[in-house]
Amino acid sequence: LANGLGTTPPMGWNSWNHFNCQINEKIIRETADALVSTGLSKLGYTFVNIDDCWAELHRDDKGNLVAKKSTFPSGIKALADYVHSKGLKLGIYSDAGYFTCSKQMPGSLGHEFQDAKTFASWGIDYLKYDNCNNDGSKPTVRYPVMTRALMNAGRPIFFSLCEWGDMHPALWGGRVGNSWRTTNDINDSWDSMISRADMNEVYADLAKPGGWNDPDMLEVGNGGMTKDEYIVHFSLWAISKAPLLLGCDVRNMSKEIVEIITNKEVIAVNQDSLGVQAKKVRMEGDQEIWAGPLSGYKVAVVLLNRGPLRNAITANWDDIGIPQNSVVQARDLWEHQTLKKLFVNKLSATLEPHSCKMYVLKPVA
Ligand code: DGJ
Repeated sequence: LANGLGTTPPMGWNSWNHFNCQINEKIIRETADALVSTGLSKLGYTFVNIDDCWAELHRDDKGNLVAKKSTFPSGIKALADYVHSKGLKLGIYSDAGYFTCSKQMPGSLGHEFQDAKTFASWGIDYLKYDNCNNDGSKPTVRYPVMTRALMNAGRPIFFSLCEWGDMHPALWGGRVGNSWRTTNDINDSWDSMISRADMNEVYADLAKPGGWNDPDMLEVGNGGMTKDEYIVHFSLWAISKAPLLLGCDVRNMSKEIVEIITNKEVIAVNQDSLGVQAKKVRMEGDQEIWAGPLSGYKVAVVLLNRGPLRNAITANWDDIGIPQNSVVQARDLWEHQTLKKLFVNKLSATLEPHSCKMYVLKPVA
């Protein structure tokens, strides 16, 4: 969407994957504090996004959304002020239906202009817009109403479309929002994660600065995968130019998890100015090569072993878009080292089960 936002994929945190409906203003404030104290905000994780269940079930007598008094007693404006005072941004959630998916709060269908104005008056910076409990009309009809409402609200608000399925939002989302879901909900398991990466890859050509494919939020740190699997998760999201929205409890993370999500070099691939989503360029059984161009004639590559056995894997220049006979320097983004050897025409690695290697390749003279 040409609203000047999302020139690189959004980064931050969202409450849903870890907390579901069990959220309150204390959790949101403490999360903002933690994003700053852990150094995550400096790395670009600036959105603090409240998901479902933040509002009262009923609007006030003027039809306005009201923050849930038992859990958000200070109101959303105060929370936005707090989050802004820390140099962060506040995101909120609504739905293009009569109720959100939890059915615990109203959606914005029929109230789009009013709600967009409310969000802007509170200082909201990001809206995630779900698709539950609607009137059965097409999302291509309901979503653009909110687009127009946001553009009319007097404040730049990143618009995240949370709709997937038959309507293939990737095909029309670029005109309507800054990101669109390409999958149904992720859960904290290898199969769920890797299949979402696959579903999202299909639409790679449709991602670009201002509009990104969204394979759903990160599960890194929620405990259901191994360290190697979380590294695969983070690497694939990064190279796929997916939103990097943390979904764990950032107030409480192990050193291992912090190391993964603070990998500057992997984040830099995600935030590269070219904004081209990587593709799966070769599959051989459980071995896969994902690759995509970066600015400055560099190429990002993930060598992935999806299988249960240790295996060798080779990336050929032909597959990853580097001219034959090019001499290439390889930076290993998880080892944080530039390999001593230069490579011609191919690069190989041996990978443990459910693990990956991630490189930035740079042709040298
Ligand atoms: C479905 C979405 O896909 C989730 O990310 C979350 O927002 C829930 N709805 C909330 O009910």
